[in-house]
Amino acid sequence: MASIKRIGIITSGGDAGGLNAVIKGVAREAYAHGIESVVIPNGYAGLYNLVDMENIVVLNAERVSRIEASIAGSEAGHSRVKISKIADPNRYQRIKDGLKKFGIDALVISGGDDTGSVVVDLGTQGIPCVHAPKTMDLDLQTYSVGGDSAINRIAVMVRDLKTTGMSHNRIMIVEVFGRYVGHTALRGGIGAEADCILIPEIPVDFDIVNDHIKSTYFGRIERSDVRAGTYMIVVAEGIKSASGELLYDESSGVDAFGHKKLAGAGKYVKQQVEKRMKTDPEVKELMKRVGMFTPGVYEIPEVREIVPSHLVRSGQTSAYDVNFGYRAGAAAVLMLLDGKAGNTVVDLVGSRIEYMPTAEAIKRREVDLTEIPLFESLGICFGRKPEKYTCDFKEIQERVTRHL
Ligand code: F6P
Repeated sequence: MASIKRIGIITSGGDAGGLNAVIKGVAREAYAHGIESVVIPNGYAGLYNLVDMENIVVLNAERVSRIEASIAGSEAGHSRVKISKIADPNRYQRIKDGLKKFGIDALVISGGDDTGSVVVDLGTQGIPCVHAPKTMDLDLQTYSVGGDSAINRIAVMVRDLKTTGMSHNRIMIVEVFGRYVGHTALRGGIGAEADCILIPEIPVDFDIVNDHIKSTYFGRIERSDVRAGTYMIVVAEGIKSASGELLYDESSGVDAFGHKKLAGAGKYVKQQVEKRMKTDPEVKELMKRVGMFTPGVYEIPEVREIVPSHLVRSGQTSAYDVNFGYRAGAAAVLMLLDGKAGNTVVDLVGSRIEYMPTAEAIKRREVDLTEIPLFESLGICFGRKPEKYTCDFKEIQERVTRHL
C-alpha cells in the first residue's frame, strides 16, 4: 500500500447531481483508514493556485456532516480549466509546490472527459490521481454520477410542460444539455413520454417530423372530447444536419477546453417545424378538422421552445446518484491506497471494485442506435424513417448492470 496521509478532492467541469455524495464517500472512506481529506476549491483553478492559499478545508466528521449528499452542485466548487493551457511554463511545479505545502499525497478528481484528460496529464507529471466519473452527458465509457439526476429532471420538466401544452394545444420543444451525445435527451424524453426525440447521433429529416406531427398531434386532438392535445419534442443541444454540421448558434463562442458552447438547437427545430406547417396544405385542413383554424390569426399550431439550460443538472440529486456517488468516492480512496492511480472508477459491486485506465474511460460513448428501432416501433419519432426492430434471444447466467 502506498503511504498516503492526506487526500485532496477536486471536482471539475460542469457541476452535476451526486458530486456531494462523491465528496462524502471520499471523506468517510479516507477517515475509516485514518487518512485526512481536504477540499481543493474551484477545480483545477484552485489546484493551480493552491500554493498561494493560506488554508484549506479539512473534511473532518463535523464538516462532512454539513454536506448534503442529495443536493446537486459541489461543495468543492468548479472551474473549466485545462492545466496544459495555463500560460505559465512553471504550472506543474507550482501545482506540486501547492500539494507539498498542504501535505497532500494524492488526489481524487471527479469530472467528465475534459477533467479526465487532465487526470492523465497530471499522472504523467508524477501526481497520483484517481478519477471518479461525473458528467450529466453520460458520454464516458463508464456510468458517471449526475446522469440519472439529469435524466429524471428532464423527464419531470417535459412531463410538467404538457399541462401548458395541452391547455394551448401547443407543440413544445425542449432543448436539453448533453453536448455531442443524446443520452440524457433520449432517456429523459422517454421518461416523459415525449413524442419526438432528436439526438446528435441521428441527423434530422424535418419532413418526417412534420408527418409525425400531423398524424400524432392532430389525431390526439381529434380523439379528445374537449379537443385538447400537445406534442412534445425533446432535442439534444448537439443535433446535426444531414451533412453532419452542428445546428447551433455560432455566436455562443467556445469554453476553456475549446468546445463550442452549444445553444440554439431548439430555436432551429422551431423554425423548421413552423416552416413546414406554413407551407403544407394538409395542416390547414387538419386545423379546420379539429376546429382550431381561425383565418389570418391562427392557421398553424403554436410552437414554443423552452431551454431549461442549467436547471437540468442543478437542484436535487436522484437517489441512484447518491448511491453511485458514495460508491465511486469510497472506491477511489481504496484504489489510491492500492496504488491504482491513473484509473477511473467503474463501480463497486459488493466486494469487487471495477476500474479502467482513465485514458480509456474518457473515450466518447454515443447512444447505441440498435435500441432506437424498438422505440420507433412504440411510436416515438427520431426524425428519420423508422427502422424495423430485430432482436435475438440469449439466456444469461449472471446479470450485469452497467449503463442506464
Ligand atoms: O458537460 C456538461 C454540460 O452540462 C453540457 O451538457 C453543456 O453543454 C455544458 O456542460 C454547459 O456548460 P457550462 O456550465 O459551462 O455552461
